[in-house]
Amino acid sequence: MKRIAVINQKGGVGKTTTTVNLGAGLARRGYKVLLLDMDPQANLTVHVDKRPDLESNTLTNLLVEDVPLKDLVQPTTTANLFVVPSDTSLAGVEQVLANRIGRETILREALEAFPAAKDFDFVLFDCPPSLGVLSANALVAADHVVIPMQAEYLSLQGMAKLLEVIQLVQKRLNPQLQIACVLPCMLDSRTNLSTEVLREIDAHFGSMLAKSRIRNNVKLAEAPSFGRSIFEHAPDSNGARDYEAFAGEFLGMIGMPAQSPRAAVAEAPAADSPTADSQAADATAPTVPPNATPVAEPHGETPGAQEASASG
Ligand SMILES: Nc1ncnc2c1ncn2[C@@H]1O[C@H](COP(=O)(O)OP(=O)(O)OP(=O)(O)O)[C@@H](O)[C@H]1O
Ligand SMILES: [Mg+2]
Repeated sequence: MKRIAVINQKGGVGKTTTTVNLGAGLARRGYKVLLLDMDPQANLTVHVDKRPDLESNTLTNLLVEDVPLKDLVQPTTTANLFVVPSDTSLAGVEQVLANRIGRETILREALEAFPAAKDFDFVLFDCPPSLGVLSANALVAADHVVIPMQAEYLSLQGMAKLLEVIQLVQKRLNPQLQIACVLPCMLDSRTNLSTEVLREIDAHFGSMLAKSRIRNNVKLAEAPSFGRSIFEHAPDSNGARDYEAFAGEFLGMIGMPAQSPRAAVAEAPAADSPTADSQAADATAPTVPPNATPVAEPHGETPGAQEASASG
């Protein structure tokens, strides 16, 4: 099970949008994906059509009351995509756990004790816009980090702090942690500003910068109000195309095949069959050779020194 923290303490940069649509993109490729809403705002919970005010079991129960993860997992309207919802009670967790020893490792331990862990290919953590105990739990439980970033002048502000926290977690609590990529989101390629800032981000992050670009797309902003991923809400939109491309690039980065081997076995059409389902027929899916080399596991403590992105 690959565990991915989608994190940036800056607000409104595309973390939740990326978590839901990367998750849905992976689910479409036959991977079984669990989304964890780590944010008291519960935007992800709403995005996958759940009602935070009606949820009786949320991530708070896991973090504060040790309710096992298996009791919190819910299906979504997307096949292969599951969620552990959040609600506003998560806001009190920082305070409740303030004096608890080992508070940063609660989530990791819960995942280790999760009996269905091996059935899930991915767990994605949608982090809140802060670097408190919730984000710390995600970083300690994760093996890869995705950092969504807006192409704006102030975007790089705060990045040093985030990298410092990641480095500290690597050193003290989770040597496995690697930065998979920085993902430019809400890009307006018509403006020189975006282009200039992208150049700056590139100079700063080099090989960590994803090749994919998530453009500004109104369909992505609409999708949460329909409780749908972009692939269900507007499959022909640029938003769907961009997240589809990113899902493919991401799988390459972490050395996973473009389609889940499990799905390939289940869905392989008979040799003489004229039909193939939409996933198998997805000509846009980039292919990764089955023997693709996985990213090297833990290395240096300096995030900048990591070659996390195999695809550059
Ligand atoms: N590429 C995009 N094009 C247009 N709108 C977008 C795009 N990505 C995200 N949005 C919208 O921008 C807003 C912020 O995005 P999102 O909620 O994903 O950011 P976030 O980083 O999770 O925010 P927070 O820090 O509050 O958790 C949302 O209304 C979302 O629908
Ligand atoms: Mg969010």
